[in-house]
Amino acid sequence: MRGNKRFLTGIIVTGMVSGLLTGCNGEMQTAERKNIKIGVTLYNQYDTYVSQMMAHFNDYAAEKEEETGIAINIEVYNASDSQSTQNDQVKEMLSDGCDVICVNLVDRTEPTTIIDMAEKQNVPVIFFNRELVEEDLERWEQLYYVGAKAFESGIMEGEIAAETFRENPEVDKNGDGIFQYIVLEGEAGHQDAIVRTEYSVSTLIENGVEVEKLGYAIANWNRAQAQTKMTQMLGEYGENIELVLANNDDMALGAIDALKSYGWEKEEWPVVVGIDGTDVGLEAVKNGEMAGTVYNDKEGQAEAMLELAYALSVGGDLSNLPLDNNKYIRLPYEKVGPDDVENYMK
Ligand code: GAL
Repeated sequence: MRGNKRFLTGIIVTGMVSGLLTGCNGEMQTAERKNIKIGVTLYNQYDTYVSQMMAHFNDYAAEKEEETGIAINIEVYNASDSQSTQNDQVKEMLSDGCDVICVNLVDRTEPTTIIDMAEKQNVPVIFFNRELVEEDLERWEQLYYVGAKAFESGIMEGEIAAETFRENPEVDKNGDGIFQYIVLEGEAGHQDAIVRTEYSVSTLIENGVEVEKLGYAIANWNRAQAQTKMTQMLGEYGENIELVLANNDDMALGAIDALKSYGWEKEEWPVVVGIDGTDVGLEAVKNGEMAGTVYNDKEGQAEAMLELAYALSVGGDLSNLPLDNNKYIRLPYEKVGPDDVENYMK
């Protein structure tokens, strides 16, 4: 059951809109706030998970407006995979007077320009989904991160694969007692891709499953790229592939697209596991195409980001928010299988 939805409802940061407030550009304001402005820049607006998270962010902002009577203006930019475009967008949002800026970094190793610009104008920055290194987040006290613990998702994916292997002897197609697998990886260097790959495999082994890696391919979280890579690997390893560990649901679905166009019966498919619990991913678990997925709590993360952005904009009390080290909000993942998938569907 999705336990995290509305996780903050009981501890919503309310009111605090009159009195001394720190507005954009660090000016102290005494007037009651009638509206706030939040700037958001996405690394790529066509990313399935990120776009579904943003849709919820907008819906939740509308609820928050009703609740508080304060207009929440949200400006959303698409960086289209370019860090320099994203830097320009942040510059624009700062000159537009945004109270807070939410950044889905294109390159997690390149936050410096953004941090320097925001600090100069005293506008807080919430990084989300694409985790930067801790040293960068420590560079100024008004920097935050909202996301999840990547290693948890890898462990859960490994557990789903291990349970499937134990409970369904027929998935060991050649009967050698070893789970032959391939990995479909997200972007090179992305925290989630590195950590999920490592932990899913180590968890299988810790759960007593002997594994053999046949191959891997980078498919940048993308369904079409995953289909191409899977088609190549099917050509190379064919029915020796018994398990596809995908770093996200879109790539798991790309693998399934390849299996379908390869013309295999479903019984001949390898086990496919994903991560995210996007709408399409959940549908594939429900219809038995994927053995399971790991729910990446987009609603919880969107709500946490909105609550934090709101509190920072109106000068609210942050002590009500589940911040670790005054900087991090990380929501837990959840395992999803055919028995409970309906609880996660809209
Ligand atoms: C991950 C998510 C992927 C992709 C990526 C983008 O957390 O699982 O599907 O959205 O973020 O940074």
